[in-house]
This record gives sequence, C-alpha cells and structure tokens, in this order.
Amino acid sequence: MLITRHAEAVAVLSDSRHVPPPVPQDAPDGTLAWLRAQVSRFASGPAHAARRRRVEELLASIDPAGLRAAARELAGEPVATVSTRAFGVSQVEAVATAAAGYLSGEGGPEADAAVRALLPLGIPMITILLQAHAATAGLITAALAREDGITPVEDLLHETLRHDPPVRVTRRDGVEIDVAAVNRDPGVFPDPDRFDPGRGATPHLTFGHGVRPCPASAHALAIAAGYLEGRRA
Ligand code: HEM
Repeated sequence: MLITRHAEAVAVLSDSRHVPPPVPQDAPDGTLAWLRAQVSRFASGPAHAARRRRVEELLASIDPAGLRAAARELAGEPVATVSTRAFGVSQVEAVATAAAGYLSGEGGPEADAAVRALLPLGIPMITILLQAHAATAGLITAALAREDGITPVEDLLHETLRHDPPVRVTRRDGVEIDVAAVNRDPGVFPDPDRFDPGRGATPHLTFGHGVRPCPASAHALAIAAGYLEGRRA
C-alpha cells in the first residue's frame, strides 16, 4: 500500500503494530548484515526501544552547537564527508562504504570490511554515523541548490526538508510512505508546490513521526546549518 496523504502517514507512523520490514538475524558476526540485525533502525518492540535509548543517550552527550561550529570549518570539504567529520571521526571511507549498503542490505566484502573497521566505535556511534551519512549530505545538497545567500539558513533548511526531502520513502511491513507526496498534501500545506522559506514551521514528515522518528533532527540541522554558514562566510 502506498500512502500519500499526511493524516494517513501520521496514523501509520504512530501505530506500533506497523513495524519496519524485518532483517535476517543469522548473518556472520562483523558483517554488514550482522550490523543491520544489531541496530535500532530495523528492530521492533522492546529491542527497538532499548537500542534507540542507547543512541539517544549518546546523542544527548553531543552538543548540536559544537557540531555546527565543526561543520562551519568543513565548508571547503566534500559534502559527503561532513557529517562523519563533524562527529570527530576520520574514517570517512569506511563510513561511506558501510552506509551505502546499510538501508538496502546490499553490500559485498568491502562493506563487511568497513563495518569491521568501525566496530571499535561501538554500535550506537556506528548507527549515528551511518544514519547521518547520506541523509545529511542529501539535505545539504538540496539546500545548496536553493541557496540564495540571504534567506536565514534555518528557514532555507526547513523548507528544503518539506519540499525536497532527501529521504523520500519510509517503509513499514506492507506499507510505503511517499514522504515527498505527504509533504505536499494540499490539505495541510497551502500552495504546496511553491518553495517558500517564509512558511515558518510546518508539520513536514521528513524526520519521520510517531514511534520512531529521527532522534537526531537537531544534530542534522546543526551540521547542515554550519556547513551552509561556512560556505557563506
Ligand atoms: C546527524 C545526522 C543524523 C543522525 C545521527 C540520524 C540518526 C537516526 C537514527 C539513529 C535513526 C533510527 C531511529 C530508530 O531506530 O528509532 C534515524 C531514523 C530516521 N532518520 Fe535520521 N539521522 C540523521 C539525519 C537525518 C536526516 C538529515 C534525515 C532527513 C532528511 C533523517 C531522517 C530520518 C527518518 C525519516 C528516520 C525514521 C525512519 C523510519 O521511520 O523508519 N535523519 N535517524
């Protein structure tokens, strides 16, 4: 079932009976498939709650203002490296390689080697780095395409998230949420196809909603804002 209406998306995402598609649990230790069986993202029920809590605790120890300042200094670096480096991690290649197969589960021996190289960081930190990688780069890239150097970066980012969501689909068992369509539901967003950074706060669903929204929206926004500020400077 494909969901394109905002109210239906909110209902599905708020209902714990709608779980993410399960991942295999029997993969050899230290592989990408094994990692996917360890993280909150693909777990449900009590395992999800416990793993999510550990990620939230780690995120709570990382000040978004510090990430913003770090990202500002990285404005001359490739967008794809910014989130990893803002978190103070230098293994940008390993993060990129592991992240490429993280959502799909498709990764060969190189992805497995990348996961093993990252293991000393611990599962919560690896989760943060892999979740951050493509989504944050996608947000920055989409915002740069709209950048006018004048609009406050927060407004630019907020409307970019609504209008050009870098994560376009969220899946639950048997259900696919078309985030891009939901964010342009005409019953919720007036004149939805117009890119208007002056809208103020909107109930876009780009960071998810309900049972398992992105726990790092403040961190992601801080990194993106810092990078844009650095570019403007
Ligand atoms: C610093 C950057 C980021 C970090 C550390 C991060 C971290 C995470 C984590 C750990 C989860 C899993 C939550 C759980 O299992 O309960 C998650 C989920 C999610 N993230 Fe992020 N994220 C980042 C950036 C972003 C960005 C830029 C977007 C969107 C543009 C995004 C959208 C989402 C969404 C939609 C989910 C929920 C997926 C679902 O409902 O199945 N994240 N994020």
